[in-house]
Amino acid sequence: MEPTKTAKIMTVVGARPNFMKAAPIIAAMRDHNERLAISAGREGAWDSHFTLQNVLVHTGQHYDEAMSDRFFADLNIPKPDVHLGVGSGSHAAQTAEIMKRFEEVLLRERPDLLVVVGDVNSTLACALVAAKISFDANGTRPFIAHVEAGLRSFDRGMPEEINRILTDHVADLLFVTEESGLRNLLDEGIPDGKVHFVGNTMIDSLLAFKDRAEGSDILDRLSLRNCNGGHGSTYGTPRYALLTLHRPSNVDQGPTFLNILEGLEELSNSCPVIFPAHPRTQKRIAEFGLARFFRTEKASPEGEKSRFAHADGQIHLVEPLGYLDFLCLMGHAALVVTDSGGIQEETTCLGIPCVTVRENTERPVTVRVGTNILAGTTKDGIRQAARQQLESRVSGAVPDGWDGRSAQRILEVICREIEKKRLL
Ligand code: UD1
Repeated sequence: MEPTKTAKIMTVVGARPNFMKAAPIIAAMRDHNERLAISAGREGAWDSHFTLQNVLVHTGQHYDEAMSDRFFADLNIPKPDVHLGVGSGSHAAQTAEIMKRFEEVLLRERPDLLVVVGDVNSTLACALVAAKISFDANGTRPFIAHVEAGLRSFDRGMPEEINRILTDHVADLLFVTEESGLRNLLDEGIPDGKVHFVGNTMIDSLLAFKDRAEGSDILDRLSLRNCNGGHGSTYGTPRYALLTLHRPSNVDQGPTFLNILEGLEELSNSCPVIFPAHPRTQKRIAEFGLARFFRTEKASPEGEKSRFAHADGQIHLVEPLGYLDFLCLMGHAALVVTDSGGIQEETTCLGIPCVTVRENTERPVTVRVGTNILAGTTKDGIRQAARQQLESRVSGAVPDGWDGRSAQRILEVICREIEKKRLL
C-alpha cells in the first residue's frame, strides 16, 4: 500500500538521561520509514498508512560537551532540529523558560504527537505546554506520549517524583517499563486504555551499544586493565568500583555528603573507586571542602598510555564520561555505587552488583529480580551494603520486556493510536 500521509512526531530531549531513552525511538522511526519505502506498492507488506516525520527538540537543560553533545555522537542521534538553549537555573526558572520557548515551537510546528521521556524538568515543562495548547478554535492539540511512565519513589521531596506524577496525569499514552508502573497508574486512577507495558528503551540502547562500548579504551586510560595489585582480584581481571552521585538530597547538604563519603572509605581502601562526577557534585565538593576524599586526575587522552596512579583510600575523581566509555566501565566493574535511577536498571541488565545510596527507589524491579540493593545514606548502611555486594555472588534476572525491542513496541502503539484517533 502506498503511504499517503505524514504524521509529525515531536521528540523532546533535555538532560543526560533523556538521550539514551529517546535514541531507540528516533531510530525506530527511521526504520519505520525505510520499511515503508521498501514495501511501497507491495500489498500488505507493511500495513502502516503514513510516514513519520520526527522533529527533535533539545531544550538545552544540559548543555556541556560532557553532559550533552558527546551523547549525540555516541548514540547516533541526529542533530536537533530545534535547540531551545535554556541552560541552568532554579527549578521554577528553568521549567518556566523551557515552557515559554517550547510553546512558540509547538505553535509553529503543530505536531500530531509529542514524545517526552523520563522525569527531568524538560519532560514536565514540555508535556504541560502541550496539554494546554490549542492549534485552532476546536482546541486541537498534540497527543502526549510519556515514555517511562508510572515509576514512583513515593518521595515527593524528589523533584523527579513531582515531574513523573504531573507528566503522567497530562499524558494521553503512557509507556511503562516495569510492572510496578502499571500498579501505580491504576492506583492513581489513570484509565487503563492509555497505559501500555512496553519494556525499557534505555535497555534498548544498552543492548544496541554494548558491543561497541567494548571497543572503548577507558580501562587503559584509567589504568584499570590489571589493577589487581593487592586488591584480591584475579590476575588480568580489573577489580574496581564505579561511583556516581548527584542527587540534590545526597550532595547538596554538607553533612549528608560527608557521611556518604565516610561510608565509602572501607570500599576505597579495598579497591580503586572511579567517580565520574556530575557538575553539580563537583561544585559541592569544592563548596563543602571535601577534596581530601579524592584524587583528581585526568584520564589520559585517547590512545595515550595511562599515567593514572591508584592510591588506596582515595576516590578517583574524573570528569563525566560519554555513553560508550561509561557503559564499558560499568560492564567491567566489580561493584557500582550510585544514586542514579537509570544505572540501577543498567546494572540489573548487565548482572553487575549495585548499591543504591538512597532510602527508596522508583525502580523496585531492580531490587526484586535484579542485582540492586538499597543502602540508605548512613555510613554503616553503605559500608555493609558494599561489603555484602562484593562478597556474595549476586545473581539477577532481566525484567520482562527489557529485550531491546521496546521502541519498536512504542512505535506500533503510536501508529495505531494516530490512525484510530484520525488525527490525520
Ligand atoms: C538533572 C535531572 C535529574 C537527572 C540529572 C542527570 C531534573 C529535575 N533533574 O539533574 O533527574 O538525573 O539531570 O544528569 O531535571 N550543569 C553543568 N553542565 C550541564 C548541565 C548542568 O554544569 O551541562 C550544572 C548546572 O549549572 C547546575 C547543575 O549542574 O548547577 C545541575 O543541573 P540541572 O539540570 O539543574 O539538574 P541535574 O542535577 O543535572
